[in-house]
Amino acid sequence: MSPHLSTDRHRAAAGDRVTGPPTPPSLAVRLAGVTLASPLVLASGVMGLSASSLERVAAAGAGAVTTKSCGLEERQGHPCPAILPFAHGLLNAVGLANPGLDEMAAEIAAFQARTPVPLIASIFAKNEAGFAEAAGRLLERVTPALLEVNVSCPNVASEFGQPFAADADACGRITAAVKARARGIPVAVKLSLQCPSLAHVGRACQDAGADALTAINSVGPGMLIDIDVRRPILANQVGGLSGAAILPLAVRAVWDLFQAVTIPIIGTGGVTRPEDALQLILAGATAVGIGTGIYTGGLELFAATNAFLADRLAHGGLPSLDALRGAAHG
Ligand code: FUM
Repeated sequence: MSPHLSTDRHRAAAGDRVTGPPTPPSLAVRLAGVTLASPLVLASGVMGLSASSLERVAAAGAGAVTTKSCGLEERQGHPCPAILPFAHGLLNAVGLANPGLDEMAAEIAAFQARTPVPLIASIFAKNEAGFAEAAGRLLERVTPALLEVNVSCPNVASEFGQPFAADADACGRITAAVKARARGIPVAVKLSLQCPSLAHVGRACQDAGADALTAINSVGPGMLIDIDVRRPILANQVGGLSGAAILPLAVRAVWDLFQAVTIPIIGTGGVTRPEDALQLILAGATAVGIGTGIYTGGLELFAATNAFLADRLAHGGLPSLDALRGAAHG
């Protein structure tokens, strides 16, 4: 049995009703020392560039919001078309378009002045030293609840080389370097399935001091072709795959990490229905990222998923999501 599971939690998750006076269920979770009123987190990459869009997501019921990943300098990203819907999700090759750290810090400060919902600041860099510099520069300006270190963007290989997420040693070095500049702010590392062993990479991050892991980034990259013009549709030709198609991959990734590490996991990938979020929690996620699901389900997906999870807890007589986290491991 995983070290995350206690016998009581396991028994409750298996369907036993807890007796005694009824306690109203709470969706609150503790994520690396930060309390979220809901486990649902806006994933990086969607509605994360401005204070006003982040506020809309917070108001919709997210327990935390994550910015679009930002780097030391402004980036235009890849030309359009950069986002391509298809039957079961999206292909995207945005190319880490962002306004740069200084502008992002201003948006973060504006958000934090107006809402108490915890904000996760996401950073990327093109080399190992750049991650430490980005963390240091951003945290001189603002104090997010968590810092997410995006080592796994699949869309910039032609410029940056293969994502660091494929290399456990590199992930460990980046984690340690960022932690050294993090001013005590918890650090989550965003991982990818594009690696020989996710468990190995996750352990390397944990051993280097990571406080949490986000899993997974978009998958691939993949390609779709316009059959009339006979060319790839995305301007970048290839892009990361997200949405319903990758839910089974995200569930498996969280499952593998839950067995490999003891730090909390932000399970991200493929949540388009409330039930999908519960699958990630049962696999071991403490929090659940929602990104592409907003395209298909709208911001209402947050409230619907909160209601669904609260209903599950109430019907099971369970006081909190602790009883369900990792319960599928038996
Ligand atoms: O292309 C992009 O901006 C994607 C970023 C990511 O998946 O981390």
